[in-house]
Amino acid sequence: MVWLWMLLVLGSSSFAYISETLDYTAPRFNVSLDLPPEERWKPVIQQYNFTELQYFLNELLSLIKDDWSRSMYSIMADFFLDFIAKEPYVGEIRGIAKTLGLKTSELTLINIFYETVMACTSIIVETKEGYIYHGRNMDLYFHVDLRKAVLDVDFYRNGQIVYTGTTFLGFVGLYTGQSPHKFTISANAREDNQFLWKNALSLFIHRYPVSWLIRNTLNSALDFDSAVEQLSSTKITTEIYLTIAGTKPGEGAAITRNRDGLADILHLNVTDGRWYLVQTNYDRGTPHPEHDNRMHYAVQKLNSTEQENINQDSLYKVLSIPRVLNWATLHTTMMSAAFPEDYVSYIRNKRYYVFKRLN
Ligand SMILES: *[C@@H]1O[C@H](CO)[C@@H](O)[C@H](O)[C@H]1NC(C)=O
Ligand SMILES: *[C@@H]1O[C@H](CO)[C@@H](O)[C@H](O)[C@H]1NC(C)=O
Ligand SMILES: *[C@@H]1O[C@H](CO)[C@@H](O)[C@H](O)[C@H]1NC(C)=O
Ligand SMILES: *[C@@H]1O[C@H](CO)[C@@H](O)[C@H](O)[C@H]1NC(C)=O
Repeated sequence: MVWLWMLLVLGSSSFAYISETLDYTAPRFNVSLDLPPEERWKPVIQQYNFTELQYFLNELLSLIKDDWSRSMYSIMADFFLDFIAKEPYVGEIRGIAKTLGLKTSELTLINIFYETVMACTSIIVETKEGYIYHGRNMDLYFHVDLRKAVLDVDFYRNGQIVYTGTTFLGFVGLYTGQSPHKFTISANAREDNQFLWKNALSLFIHRYPVSWLIRNTLNSALDFDSAVEQLSSTKITTEIYLTIAGTKPGEGAAITRNRDGLADILHLNVTDGRWYLVQTNYDRGTPHPEHDNRMHYAVQKLNSTEQENINQDSLYKVLSIPRVLNWATLHTTMMSAAFPEDYVSYIRNKRYYVFKRLN
């Protein structure tokens, strides 16, 4: 373990920061879409420590405190999986549960009811040359350290990568992903609270978990515009922000979703001065809370970087400034659909612990 002490001078005030370990690249796996859904995650899961995995998943389940609620949710989860949910998700969940020796209803619960605990930052930029880059921080406020469960996956069919995504082991949906040479997507939570019941009930009127909508879109949308259309109009179980970037100048949009449809959409537009789009967890045009104004700091840093200096590296730096990067940040994913081989996730290591204010 590398211990690193850093002193950063930020304008007039100074902070000291401590870093536990350095960032590292997330493990990467292949999942073959040619295998039956029940089988395709097995080779990935078998490379992990089952004891640790079962512990992570049980801790997630323990968020549902009382036994009565838990059994109600389990019944709903089983019903949902048996009668409503679609392939490949049903088969994949069954296969993973079987491999890990978990109840299918428990793994279903974990897969569909935790959509709103993510507080994240997503940024799209357009360079002077017209290249599009997309970066995202995944922040998760949770007492168990889920870093070890983060992985990048290349989904293959007939020997070709159909799409790539970042997820937690055991989760079959994607909140971050790339369709090569077409578009990249990231999701940020829109609601403060977990309205578990609301999300659960939504499932029964044939709405989609957001992470499944994203995976479907990566799998099937033919281009940027049809992906935007699919993400804007498909009925989903929870309110969410979806950020999507393409390959050509102007192809970038920040979508604000209600369960039934579009609430708002903003496109990149360099002519209009919008060479970047930043999305955190608050609606555009509403005041962002003082204690969590990631938007302000990200925008300030983008402004001072300037469009002529923006690229994948400087975008990573924007996502790494204190406050934008925070103790809850699990990973930073960098992507650009025009350069699909550059897709990478870095596991972040609680780097910016403010331990002492110097003045
Ligand atoms: C994934 O599959 C590709 C193509 O078959 C192969 O080149 C690559 O090494 C595989 N990666 C991993 C991590 O197994
Ligand atoms: C798996 O993790 C547990 C708990 O951290 C540990 O006790 C055990 O030795 C690990 N097993 C293997 C095979 O590494
Ligand atoms: C971009 O902004 C300019 C100036 O406001 C406007 O004329 C143009 O229609 C916008 N482009 C798109 C694609 O919306
Ligand atoms: C960033 O630049 C834009 C456009 O010049 C400006 O409207 C905005 O106030 C700036 N924001 C910050 C936080 O510097």
